[in-house]
Amino acid sequence: MFSWMASTKTPDSIFVCNECGTVERKWHGQCPGCAQWNTLVEEVAPTPSVGKGARRGIGGAGASETRALDGTGLAAVPAPASRAARGAAPITEPVILSEVRAARIRRIATGIGEFDRVLGGSDAVGLGLVPGSLVLLGGAPGIGKSTLVGAALGNLVANGTSVLYVSGEESPEQIRVRHERLGSAAMGVPVIAETDLDSVIATIEAQSPKPEVCVIDSVQTLYCADLSGAPGSVGQVREVAARLMQVAKSRDIAMLLVGHVTKEGSLAGPRVLEHLVDCVLHFEGERERTFRTLRAAKNRFGSTNEVGVFEMEEHGLVEVLDASARFVGDATNNPGSVIFAAMEGTRPMLIEIQALVSRAEADPPRRVVNGIDRNRLSLILAVLGRHAGVSLSGHDVFVNVVGGVRIEEPSADLAVALAVASAARNAVLANDSKPLVCFGEIGLTGELRPVPQADRRVAEAVKFGLSHALFPAPKGDRSGAHSVSEALDRAFS
Ligand code: TYD
Ligand code: MG
Repeated sequence: MFSWMASTKTPDSIFVCNECGTVERKWHGQCPGCAQWNTLVEEVAPTPSVGKGARRGIGGAGASETRALDGTGLAAVPAPASRAARGAAPITEPVILSEVRAARIRRIATGIGEFDRVLGGSDAVGLGLVPGSLVLLGGAPGIGKSTLVGAALGNLVANGTSVLYVSGEESPEQIRVRHERLGSAAMGVPVIAETDLDSVIATIEAQSPKPEVCVIDSVQTLYCADLSGAPGSVGQVREVAARLMQVAKSRDIAMLLVGHVTKEGSLAGPRVLEHLVDCVLHFEGERERTFRTLRAAKNRFGSTNEVGVFEMEEHGLVEVLDASARFVGDATNNPGSVIFAAMEGTRPMLIEIQALVSRAEADPPRRVVNGIDRNRLSLILAVLGRHAGVSLSGHDVFVNVVGGVRIEEPSADLAVALAVASAARNAVLANDSKPLVCFGEIGLTGELRPVPQADRRVAEAVKFGLSHALFPAPKGDRSGAHSVSEALDRAFS
């Protein structure tokens, strides 16, 4: 199926162990050096020439040379004599940072507000993509990555920005079908369907005018002919990304790499690129649900706190600007339901958390979570049992964050504890059909710990007419709740 398989060219590649650095000519399942399994990764072999550009790969370029010098039993791999030893290495003059001139480079706005906010920026440079940067957009298949980048490119083209959409997954006909749904702007995007890395780079370099933004969809489908591994293998993905990074940096192109991750995030691909790229965005949610969140796991040019919320609709992704209103409006107010006042970056957001407690069918009882960390639930259940008299050892406990949102802050502890307690007692937390809003971290001794930005969280609740709020009392305040058991007393009084 793939032409690279039929290639008769001898691949000029080596296999390097990720654990111990052993270099081999052939791939081995078990590393001959350290006996670890599945640690050998294909790399382009260093060329005999000495000096810059001897290797195209970025990550580990110098490292391979050292490894070869280590005498790892790979005589055929040329080991150039150290330049420093020959006294030929040029000296680099250190500079004082205050004397370094940092040009204020304007960012390239994609025109999708939530996307630009997550990418970061400032009033001075605007929000959006940094020219010459490499952004990795990871997410499960079908989550809407192509839809998001397609809409972004459409907006850019409409604004007169030159772009290029490289698809290794779909034909132009298939892309057209999607873009027809996204509106007329998206139909103006120039596309190529290509999987050969050299050809993609040659095309990018030949474009006139030079593309300012280039999307690679996806990084796992491109292959470098110098390596024998299949597209998507660790060695291929690394080499593809490293070469694209050189193009991005040297030509000042903002490069968006789309990458698939499995539910466990285990697939060879995005995970191995995180150290290489400038920004890693995760596009998450459940395919069956309409809400999607976009957040930065790493951002050299901005905050990693911002979250963009989208909804997948008939005509593409729609930004959910007032997520709180949606979540509060849909809240059930039944036993087991509570509203958590979250801070998603600079933005407060009200999210419903639901719990279900039922007699356990089997031993050990089930702890099923959706949107929160399972270990965090275990901790909260232990504290509820030990310090608040809510023992659930014989019960299955299910916790769900509504709308497919994932919460990482420990400030959600109190909301989870109250939802579980409400479900266990089959008692509603809502007052006059207005849901209870809460937030707060729970400590191991059952104490409530204050969390950042309490005033902004409360203000968000007030904005939606929710005056019934429960959160850790500030130090010295005798009337407020200081422990989980006090919070339960108040919530159910
Ligand atoms: P897609 O962007 O192709 O996902 P990914 O690139 O992450 O694999 O699209 C995901 C799903 O979204 C697909 O099943 C179809 C659906 N969809 C809509 O509901 N509305 C739309 O306007 C578009 C373009 C897609
Ligand atoms: Mg896609």
